[in-house]
Amino acid sequence: MNKKDQYAALWAQLSALMDGTPEPLPNMANLSALIFQNVDRLNWAGFYINTGAELLLGPFQGKPACIRIPFDRGVCGAAVREDRTQLVPDVHQFPGHIACDGASRSELVVPVRAGGRIVAVLDLDSPEAARFDQDDQAGMEALARILGEMCDWTSLI
Ligand code: SME
Repeated sequence: MNKKDQYAALWAQLSALMDGTPEPLPNMANLSALIFQNVDRLNWAGFYINTGAELLLGPFQGKPACIRIPFDRGVCGAAVREDRTQLVPDVHQFPGHIACDGASRSELVVPVRAGGRIVAVLDLDSPEAARFDQDDQAGMEALARILGEMCDWTSLI
């Protein structure tokens, strides 16, 4: 299966899993598991929630990770600050990168938007340099879009 078809399948699986559930937490938990089980060469897949003051660790799969990320730090902070996806082929070259798992070599961080603001970020790490390409970015952005639009984010934190 090529990447576009694989992401289309994930999109359909996520829609089925959500099944009208509006609460963000179970949907973030299932999406991190769905990605981690189906997308190869990952060592971490999960969420940081935007509390308005910082990014707070949410549901994820992988090794335990740092709990709080200030907006001025990390690849995750940059995604919020710059209001756009961060595709980082080599995390060692990214100023301010936070190494939660020393095995991580490349990273993709996608904002999850709802009602015109970033409510969370979807963070993917890989032990392989340059693991992520434009198809991964488009595919993950589509998954983040469904999650953002289908959930009620008003009572998350
Ligand atoms: N590397 C991220 C921190 C989170 S971990 O990858 C799970 C960053 O620099 O923001």
